[in-house]
Amino acid sequence: MMIIGIDVGATTTKAVSIEDGKFTRKIKVKASDAITAATGAFGKMILENGINISAVEGIRITGVGASRIKNNIFDIPTSRVDEIKAIGTGGMFLSGMDNIIITNVGTGTAIIEASGRGISHFGGSGVGGGTILGLAKKLLPTAEFSGIMELAAAGNLNQVDLLLEDIMDTDISFLRKQTTAANFGKMLDNASSGDIALAILNMVYQVIGMLSVFAARARDTKRVIVTGNGSSNQIGQQVLADITALYGIEFIYPKDAEYTTAIGAGLCC
Ligand SMILES: Nc1ncnc2c1ncn2[C@@H]1O[C@H](COP(=O)(O)OP(=O)(O)OP(=O)(O)O)[C@@H](O)[C@H]1O
Ligand SMILES: [Mg+2]
Repeated sequence: MMIIGIDVGATTTKAVSIEDGKFTRKIKVKASDAITAATGAFGKMILENGINISAVEGIRITGVGASRIKNNIFDIPTSRVDEIKAIGTGGMFLSGMDNIIITNVGTGTAIIEASGRGISHFGGSGVGGGTILGLAKKLLPTAEFSGIMELAAAGNLNQVDLLLEDIMDTDISFLRKQTTAANFGKMLDNASSGDIALAILNMVYQVIGMLSVFAARARDTKRVIVTGNGSSNQIGQQVLADITALYGIEFIYPKDAEYTTAIGAGLCC
């Protein structure tokens, strides 16, 4: 028998199949309203994989859009799963780890603590993937992710961020001279789109990284599992690697991390 987990996120909807406790299939859709997103994700999962609908025992739905779906989907028993529980369950499942902080980088960022003892919401920030796109829309010639990444690859942070070396001659405490002192704090007149693209990504992932460090330290762990669509960003991972070098907190990127919430919903409760 099969459970379908659906995560109706603020931007994308993810669906996964769970069979005998194993994560077997995944799909992603984008729709502007929660009902279209959830039914569309379910339909795509069934049709693309040739699944016999009678094999689906239940649907577990989570994410910001879940509360809009009040009834069973196509007469299949449909229950709603708390998103924090779903992220915590999915994060422990995908990482195979216990006693972790999970930083879910979606449209916004949610930080969850998860262990065998329980799952709870540590906190979060409105700084996330949606921030990158929103700033790109006004500051860059493109607000497509591939375009932002291409621009940023040729960017120079020194043109936009005020670095420690700009204001002092020596290293300060454990920080290197090239560390950002103020995001966007320099913004030279000749800063290019590439420089700005890199500075946007750098700022978003520095905020996400530092909040994760504080959460990990508060809960006495050194491991942070990074999930959500924003987890696979190459420049973001580089910014987080720099934070690891300074603070000793390890960032871990499980495979299929953008499906964490949907997987957790499917496995949960
Ligand atoms: N390569 C990328 N790097 C960083 N962010 C990305 C990338 N591609 C897409 N995004 C961002 O990912 C966000 C969507 O991620 P995800 O699907 O995990 O969020 P969501 O579940 O819809 O939102 P939330 O969990 O906040 O409700 C969008 O804001 C988009 O800007
Ligand atoms: Mg999400």
